[in-house]
Amino acid sequence: MIVTLLAALVLVDYSRHVEPILTRHCVTCHRAGQVAPFALDNYAEARKHARSIAAVTASRYMPPWKASHLPGAELLGERRLSAAELATLAAWARTGAPPGPVLPLKPAQPTPDWELGPPDLILEMPEAFPVAASGEDIYQCFVLPLALAQSRWVRAFAFAPGARRAVHHALFFVDSSGTGRQRDAAEPGPGYRCFGLPGFLPTASLGGWSPGNGAYEMPEGTAQPLRKNADVILQIHYHVTGAPQRDLSRLGLYFAKTPPTRQLYDVALASRQIDIPAGDAAYRVRDSITLPVAVDLLGVIPHAHYLAKQMRGWATLPSGQRRLLFEVLDWDFNWQQNYRYTKPLRLPADTRLEMDFVYDNSARNPRNPSRPPRRVGWGPETTDEMAGLHFQAVPANPEDAAELAQTLWGKLIRFLGAGGLRHTGTQHEVDPRPQP
Ligand code: HEC
Repeated sequence: MIVTLLAALVLVDYSRHVEPILTRHCVTCHRAGQVAPFALDNYAEARKHARSIAAVTASRYMPPWKASHLPGAELLGERRLSAAELATLAAWARTGAPPGPVLPLKPAQPTPDWELGPPDLILEMPEAFPVAASGEDIYQCFVLPLALAQSRWVRAFAFAPGARRAVHHALFFVDSSGTGRQRDAAEPGPGYRCFGLPGFLPTASLGGWSPGNGAYEMPEGTAQPLRKNADVILQIHYHVTGAPQRDLSRLGLYFAKTPPTRQLYDVALASRQIDIPAGDAAYRVRDSITLPVAVDLLGVIPHAHYLAKQMRGWATLPSGQRRLLFEVLDWDFNWQQNYRYTKPLRLPADTRLEMDFVYDNSARNPRNPSRPPRRVGWGPETTDEMAGLHFQAVPANPEDAAELAQTLWGKLIRFLGAGGLRHTGTQHEVDPRPQP
């Protein structure tokens, strides 16, 4: 209230008040050659869009950030404008978007591809992938052989999209089985079609990228194993842009110098029991696990396709107290990412972790890929659904690792059993952590 009043009293202008907000929160995506449809790095463009800037920020449609702000479970890199910033943008639009004093031009900030410095290994797509000017979105997997001299631990990765307007998001998997190579060989041209997963159960999932996200560093003391002869499978979701594009994206890997001191576990809440009637606007999928030992939750990776709307992750503590750990109220497949907590969330032994997802398979859901809606089950296609909430956890006491691993294995077996093993693909569940 007070900030709103203050913003209304000060005459808000572009150069002193608005430009710093846009530079800080918007221009990573809103400038030439980036994913957003127009630039916001100059007065003329900002003025032209002043009203919609005020509207889309007030509704929190922009900047895109899907997870709710939960006190006590704050997420790293949260894109969120403060109340004062929202009020400034609203006041500026209301008062005719004045330019303010002409300030000396700041030199444009080049974004380095590798903000963490040169990667230890850069994996590049073997050849450029052509994206047509129009048509459907494309989900393509590319096989990038590692051929390392020795097995490694990955502590961080950074993704450098080639055709930045066209690359909407990317997922990275590890495949030690050679299945990706077979799929690739069976289809003409670079890579092969795949959606959500690489088309089979990968050895591990490394993570993902969506526009506006920088490098991803694994939580302190943890790292992902990478066998020397494994392949990295890069799945890219391409948007068509109205002009033909050629994409040559790169993935930079940073290796840990020493083996990790903490073992990272994927506490996977997931279900294959999905059978959504056509027209059902509030179909629920739930799963839970009781933690046998105390853990620190470091991050969370949600996964579903286009029908999912709401996602919640709860903890019920042994005391009976319930805590909301993660929430998305308007899931958008296009804005997937790995979330990390700003500080680890310690959960005691015997905490029940739960996921509760809500799907909208009605015609009113603008993201529904089937028109008219049809019955939807679990599966890897765009028109199928999935449900996974993957908490990244480390045991609070390292000696508890075996007990945690055993519980997670048991859960994985039940998960696979429940689906009748009809499908070949499944979300990466438990990584038995092979020592490289
Ligand atoms: C992570 C990338 C990203 C960031 C950061 C971002 N935008 Fe966007 N913005 C997009 C994309 C992509 C679109 C077009 C697709 C869409 O509307 O979702 C868009 C669309 C828009 C639109 C048009 C919406 C419409 O309905 O036509 C406005 C206005 C806008 N952004 C303003 C902003 C402002 C203001 C900020 C900063 C406070 C911001 N954006 C930050 C990616 C971004």
